[in-house]
Amino acid sequence: MNDWHPRYIQQARWTAQLRQYLFQKAELAAAARILEVGCGTGAVLEDLPVKPGAAVHGLDLSHHSVKRASVHAPGIIPLCADGSFLPYPNACFNLVFCHFLLLWAKDPGRLLREMVRVTCRGGAVLALAEPDYGGRIDFPLELAALGQWQADALKSQGADPLVGRKLAGLLVSAGLKNVETGVLGGAWQIPILPGERELEWDVLESDLAGKIPDQDIQALKRLDLASTENGTRMLFVPTFYAWGRV
Ligand SMILES: C[S@@+](CC[C@H](N)C(=O)[O-])C[C@H]1O[C@@H](n2cnc3c(N)ncnc32)[C@H](O)[C@@H]1O
Repeated sequence: MNDWHPRYIQQARWTAQLRQYLFQKAELAAAARILEVGCGTGAVLEDLPVKPGAAVHGLDLSHHSVKRASVHAPGIIPLCADGSFLPYPNACFNLVFCHFLLLWAKDPGRLLREMVRVTCRGGAVLALAEPDYGGRIDFPLELAALGQWQADALKSQGADPLVGRKLAGLLVSAGLKNVETGVLGGAWQIPILPGERELEWDVLESDLAGKIPDQDIQALKRLDLASTENGTRMLFVPTFYAWGRV
């Protein structure tokens, strides 16, 4: 896929209410120094409700994404670096978070320990959204193959499709206290928003290209779009969150 920003905006829309709840509990509005690790193109940073004068840092492994993040969230302090080796001193942020990042990490425990290291005592570390494809629900049932294909494709890209269920334990192991965890619920509008399924398919087709015969992909795409059209389609990927105090 050439432009990931529309997909990241879509994912940020799914977690908007949850972020509001978690950021309030973690006292984002009082934080002076904030960091998003794996900020991508800035989909979450672009409307982060921080206090005037707060320093908001966005870090990502991808130079291209960091540049896009500075455009979408012009006030941020961007940096291209690996979250597993955060180039910041100990205890210099009040709140550090990630959103759809740990899924991609070779060693999510290391990444979280780094997030904890750079957070001051009493500060908060939040993993806002990490999916678990092992708990995916598809209907009509023939579409279950899609979930398996996608999980296999993610594994072949080095991602962990089951990271969601491991999230709370990862935060506890990273030394966070008073860990609160949960699963994002689902709520759907029928008919769904125009373009929603197409965005999902852009990702799927790019993930599955060369791994699954195109005619098999297209057969399930037709079934998916037809069942979406007639209101019978159901797709739910459990997406976990967890946060705690340093
Ligand atoms: C699915 S995107 C999410 C982007 C953003 N957090 C959002 O929700 O819109 C994951 C991002 O994590 C970045 N990433 C993956 N591994 C990383 C690492 N070790 N350190 C920093 N960024 C990383 C990728 O480059 C990508 O931009």
